[in-house]
Amino acid sequence: MKLLVCGGAGFIGSNFVRSRLAASDDSVVVLDKLTYAGRRESLRDAEDDPRFSFVHGAIEDPEAVAGAIADVDAVVNFAAETHVDRSIAEPDAFVRTHALGTFVLLEAARERGVRYLQVSTDEVYGSIDEGSFTENSPLEPSSPYSATKAGADLLVASYHETFGLETLITRGSNNYGPYQYPEKLIPLMVLNAMHGDRLPVYGDGRNVRNWLFVEDFASGISHVLEHGVPGETYNVGGPDEADNLTVVRRIIELCGADESLISFVADRPGHDRRYSLGSEKVRALGWSAATRFDEGIERTVAWYRENSWWWEPIRSGSYRDYYARQYGTALAE
Ligand code: NAD
Ligand code: TYD
Repeated sequence: MKLLVCGGAGFIGSNFVRSRLAASDDSVVVLDKLTYAGRRESLRDAEDDPRFSFVHGAIEDPEAVAGAIADVDAVVNFAAETHVDRSIAEPDAFVRTHALGTFVLLEAARERGVRYLQVSTDEVYGSIDEGSFTENSPLEPSSPYSATKAGADLLVASYHETFGLETLITRGSNNYGPYQYPEKLIPLMVLNAMHGDRLPVYGDGRNVRNWLFVEDFASGISHVLEHGVPGETYNVGGPDEADNLTVVRRIIELCGADESLISFVADRPGHDRRYSLGSEKVRALGWSAATRFDEGIERTVAWYRENSWWWEPIRSGSYRDYYARQYGTALAE
């Protein structure tokens, strides 16, 4: 199979590309705009593979999409703006990429009649105090990030209902693992703990997330791409839930840092209290998560410790300005 992977230079997309090239005969074309979060370095292992090619372009650009989609069998769309805090500060790009970008991709997929998988998130359901969301739960997004992702999901579903396009949607829970940009909780805390920087915990630190190791989400997406029923949505949730303080304390332990680095800071506006996904539907299709949080977090910390070539250029570049704006404090040199 030849796949078009949009947003393949990001965190989950690059892990997905690596796993497809390793585990199948697929050819892969990556189409990526290379925003601050997209990095060719994350695809370093794939670059020498003759089955891999890269197109620099945006999903909202019909010409770039037409070139990249030319002879593929399926489209997997990871391309997105993904950080809730950035969506609060500057929502524009979220609307452009999720609404217009998804529309342009769907049109191109419809014209060519190719299967289309949209990578979505549990955040479209909003927050849940008890129990878990199913695929039939109402969409009640809280942030510009999750609202625009929800809008994209609805547009994808409409292309199945209206035009008969073979669409699939996977809604993943919070991912963590190698190659994640250090604006997200886990890589931010790992790198700060390694450098002796303070660890900014929002609010009371008791918000709960349902953690999914990135290799498991990649395998879940592959599974749904191959076995999913067109028109259906599949939740892909992690095996463990943990609140933020528990996660941060485990990272401190693994990094040999000190608890006094924890610093409680102002809460995020509209901060969802808890995410929890019921994944019975994708399990019935034959997928399950292989990595529990205890193992995944150890592997993640070890990866950041051993791969400073990947994060050093981020921490010494414009990320420093983002960090100072977001947290009102500088990173250590
Ligand atoms: P990321 O921010 O690490 O990567 C996003 C990638 O998309 C980058 O390579 C970026 O350059 C590219 N991109 C952004 N806008 C683009 C555009 N207009 N055209 C082409 N490329 C563009 O994100 P991620 O964490 O890898 O998330 C990937 C997908 O998975 C997103 O759709 C996200 O909503 C979804 N998701 C993420 C998580 C999570 O915990 N990170 C959980 C569930 C679902
Ligand atoms: P994040 O990684 O941004 O993912 P999401 O908001 O999409 O779930 O945040 C995970 C949790 O960690 C969330 O409850 C917000 C919290 N958080 C902090 O406490 N401090 C931080 O510096 C960041 C980035 C997040």
